[in-house]
Amino acid sequence: MREGVRRSLQTLAAIASVALAAGAVAVVVRTGTEQQRRDVDAVTALSASAPSAGRALIVASGCGACHVIPGIPRARGQVGPSLAGIAGRAIVGGSLPNTPDNLQAWIEDPRRLSPQTAMPALGLSSEQARQVTAWLYAEAK
Ligand code: HEC
Repeated sequence: MREGVRRSLQTLAAIASVALAAGAVAVVVRTGTEQQRRDVDAVTALSASAPSAGRALIVASGCGACHVIPGIPRARGQVGPSLAGIAGRAIVGGSLPNTPDNLQAWIEDPRRLSPQTAMPALGLSSEQARQVTAWLYAEAK
């Protein structure tokens, strides 16, 4: 094989392996963590509705009387757990895996999932509970 051809083949092989490595990194980044997946879900849910809707519902429902919620004025309640970093929690409501669907269902009607819980239903619709969930995942850091 001529030297020039061999060198360009080697260059091509080097480019290909760099591209493969970059691809692998991209896959890892895309797979990401649970937290990132929830962030994506939250953003998807948010983009389907007004971004501020969840926040307004949290204020109007008085969630802050029972929970510390970063970003919500006067939300310093100590009846339930702080909702800071809720997106990173593994379990919510004592026994539910922390998925967008579970958190939405919890916020809509906690006692349907956990009859003994002290948290009452606040009269939110499924859509409203979704908006609250989206806001909490994205903003309650
Ligand atoms: C009357 C007090 C009260 C009010 C009002 C209230 N909660 Fe709760 N909440 C609780 C308690 C107590 C728990 C813990 C329940 C359990 O684990 O059984 C809880 C649990 C939660 C959890 C699960 C947290 C975790 O880490 O397990 C979320 C999320 C939550 N509440 C969101 C809300 C939102 C959003 C609102 C307003 C729409 C709200 N809460 C209003 C008392 C309240």
